[in-house]
This record gives sequence, C-alpha cells and structure tokens, in this order.
Amino acid sequence: MKFKKHVFVCTNDKEAPKKCCGSERGMALVDAFKEELKDRNLLTEIRAQKSGCLDVCAFGPSVVVYPEGIWYGNVQPSDIKEIVESHLVNDQPVERLQLKFAPKA
Ligand code: FES
Repeated sequence: MKFKKHVFVCTNDKEAPKKCCGSERGMALVDAFKEELKDRNLLTEIRAQKSGCLDVCAFGPSVVVYPEGIWYGNVQPSDIKEIVESHLVNDQPVERLQLKFAPKA
C-alpha cells in the first residue's frame, strides 16, 4: 500500500440551491488537512486530496478515510487537527463526526 491513510474530501459543486460540499468549504478542508500533515512531516505517509461527490451530500462537508472506510460528515476546518491527531496518527476515529451506514448484505 502506498499510503498508511488516504483521505478523500468532497469538493463537488452543484447548482444552487442543492447542498454540496464544495460550497461548504470543501477545498478549505483539503488545504487544512494538507497544512496539518505538512506541519507534522506526514505528507509521504498520509495523503489528503479532493474528490468528487461521495454520495452523502446531505451530511456534508464529507470526508472518507481509507483503508478503514471511516466516513465523516459536517466536517469543519476546526475539526481537522482532531481528525489528524486522533484518527490519522493514533488510529482512533473521531466518534462525534462519524457517519455510520448499515453494512451491505
Ligand atoms: S456534494 Fe459532497 S458528498 Fe455529494
């Protein structure tokens, strides 16, 4: 595996008035992840990048972290340090931001 963790941040933009992550600071979240990872010298181990629609628009701004497949919703720039410290560095997902889905049969 190339990265220990791979973070996808939705930056999709839709026509108003549909809710979408791009208009709700999706790109600011990507920049905040990159800045925090750079400050911690983790850019070679952990990658954060923008993505298209992750299909959870109503819960955005949305983020998904692999390889675990942990989803986060309503993520704000002020949450990024906590996600990096707790989840990406210490493998403890941030419970209060998690989106939980029923397992697929
Ligand atoms: S617009 Fe972000 S999940 Fe659809």
